[in-house]
Amino acid sequence: MKKVTLDEFQALQTSDKIPHLSKDGDGRDIFHLLFAQQFKRPELDALCKLADHIRKINKTVEGTELLGSTLRDKHALNLFVQPSTRTFMSFMAAEQKLGMMTLDIRDVTTSSHAKGESFQNSIRTFSSYVDLIVMRHPDKGACGVAAWEMNMAERRIPVINGGSGRDQHPSQALLDIYTIQKSLDEIDGKTIVMVGDLARGRTVRSLSYLLRNYENVRIIYASPDDLRIGDDIKDFLQRNSMTFEETDNLEKVIPEADAIYMTRVQGEWDKKGGSTGEKSAPDPRFVFRKEFLSKMKKTACLMHPLPKISEIDVELDYIDDPRIVYWRQERNGMWARAALIATIFGVHDRISEFAAD
Ligand code: CP
Repeated sequence: MKKVTLDEFQALQTSDKIPHLSKDGDGRDIFHLLFAQQFKRPELDALCKLADHIRKINKTVEGTELLGSTLRDKHALNLFVQPSTRTFMSFMAAEQKLGMMTLDIRDVTTSSHAKGESFQNSIRTFSSYVDLIVMRHPDKGACGVAAWEMNMAERRIPVINGGSGRDQHPSQALLDIYTIQKSLDEIDGKTIVMVGDLARGRTVRSLSYLLRNYENVRIIYASPDDLRIGDDIKDFLQRNSMTFEETDNLEKVIPEADAIYMTRVQGEWDKKGGSTGEKSAPDPRFVFRKEFLSKMKKTACLMHPLPKISEIDVELDYIDDPRIVYWRQERNGMWARAALIATIFGVHDRISEFAAD
């Protein structure tokens, strides 16, 4: 595929960037993962199945040995310059399950960036030592710059977006899809209610993009007026003939929901560019109270990308109700991310063949 300058790459629409993020430049096999729009239904189904296989074979010594041998000659760098607990840890755990050696940078002031080295030169330097970069960054476009740099480099290694600004969190959306599918058996025809800070929540944005891949999904966005989902997402849903509505009455829509996806108020974006937490109290109308459990369908699930602050009644952490799935969702991140990495490196068939025996 024709190489483009960084300015040309950045000027492209997301759909036109996708070929540049694929293995062979044909837009098919994902190489760099930057956007949820890169996933199509067959890939999502395959990744969910592979995550199940990894989960299953991890239960035996032979299985963990097989997993640990698949990428044991590879190194991963987890470059997280914005706070993270579960994305960082689940990627690290997933990489190690696949036998990868892991390095991390969480504070760029300890790297030569502090001496004035450019971000692009830093990325190229990292790629001299590792085979994969997983990256979280407060700037929306930083993962794209890293992926472009790798496309220009002699040693092209994959870049996975582990959360970019307020824009996207595609691997979170993948684990969310995996969790919904495991909880509801199927996603087609289901009603998904997304709640809270939808204006600054990158997880709800990426999940909205992924839901395009499912038939007859209805999305209900429940938020205060000043935290409504962005117009760009609404345009996307309209262009793709998807059914969605907005409400400021969470309680009213709970009985209709198959999945309720809570999010916290992301006050860190108010002042410090997403780098440090400014705790903000949620609007009480968008807090999931204990009594709401009785309004939920018996088959529904209550999700949260976490971390949560006070938007879910803390008592729910200690209630034994199979519909409360956010802790399982968090663990699913490790399986889904292991499936993603295995697929990017082309070792998925080996894992699935072992699982089928
Ligand atoms: N869900 C999520 O991205 O959590 P962390 O910020 O802890 O990684």
